[in-house]
Amino acid sequence: MKERLMNLKEEALKSLEAAGDLAALDGIRVAFLGKKGALTEILRGMGKLSAEERPIVGEIANRVREEITEALNAKKDRLAAAESEARLACEKLDVTAPSGVISLGGRHPIALVQEQIENIFISMGFTVEDGPEVETDYYNFEALNTPADHPARDVQDTFYITDKVLLRTQTSPVQARTMEKTKPPIRMICPGRVYRSDAVDATHSPMFHQIEGLVVDRNITMGDLKGTLDLFAQKMFGEQTKTRFRPHHFPFTEPSAEVDVSCFVCGGKGCSLCKGEGWIEILGAGMVHPNVLRAGGIDPEEYSGFAFGMGVERIVMTRFGIRDMRYLYENDVRFLRQFS
Ligand code: DAH
Repeated sequence: MKERLMNLKEEALKSLEAAGDLAALDGIRVAFLGKKGALTEILRGMGKLSAEERPIVGEIANRVREEITEALNAKKDRLAAAESEARLACEKLDVTAPSGVISLGGRHPIALVQEQIENIFISMGFTVEDGPEVETDYYNFEALNTPADHPARDVQDTFYITDKVLLRTQTSPVQARTMEKTKPPIRMICPGRVYRSDAVDATHSPMFHQIEGLVVDRNITMGDLKGTLDLFAQKMFGEQTKTRFRPHHFPFTEPSAEVDVSCFVCGGKGCSLCKGEGWIEILGAGMVHPNVLRAGGIDPEEYSGFAFGMGVERIVMTRFGIRDMRYLYENDVRFLRQFS
């Protein structure tokens, strides 16, 4: 029996030596030390031994088990180390390898056009002002000579937060705020977001962008308004561009006009962009109403002024031939990439 145990040990050590991976090691453990393994098999014969022989053989058997277990663990450590070394070797980092393509972001078309418009007016000596998007009823309507029963004040058009606080529906309240804090001469524009209770479609959005303009000084006339907007239109849409003023009504200006620019694609002949009109409407404008000057603390006997407001999305869409406003807000990089 002793000899069988020694042979078993030899055999186990030899197969351990030959084992190439952790799975093979486990197979060896089961074959030699497992419940149905070779060692158990031999020990079954212990019953036949005499009382003196039994402890001696038992001790040998224990030692054989220990030696095999030790060899098994040692081999297991060696295999594990070798495996992790092999893994590290192929995970090697090559710091000299060329990097992948880095894609840079670009400006949003609304930001691009807004900045271009700002720069044109800055070059004419205008300042750029800012105002709150959460505005009071006073600045958005009352200070702008908009009576209590005016349709724009309806909840159908305006997002009210309380009776007296709302999301501004236009950038015009910044006119009133600027007049309150600045003495004439005033020459300012104010770009920003405005909000209206509109459902989203190809030409409407509950949030969009406007740029407001205001000039107040002594002897400001409609001729100054026309000259300023002509120069703006030429710089924005090309030197051949003409403007056309059509009579209109705004509560905060008198007289008021809607302003068209000659189509920059067909030059006025009529094409698909201007829908055969030859003209594209881009602005509202007029001479500042005396009540608005008064609300801003400016004496209408001494000063006069003009104001204008334009929608940025509209200009972006005609400029780039975008037929659906929703493209501007979806942030689809395939769309945005075309402008960078
Ligand atoms: N606030 C007007 C709008 O949202 C646009 C506008 C028209 C602004 C005439 C003006 C102006 O300053 O004089 O439709």
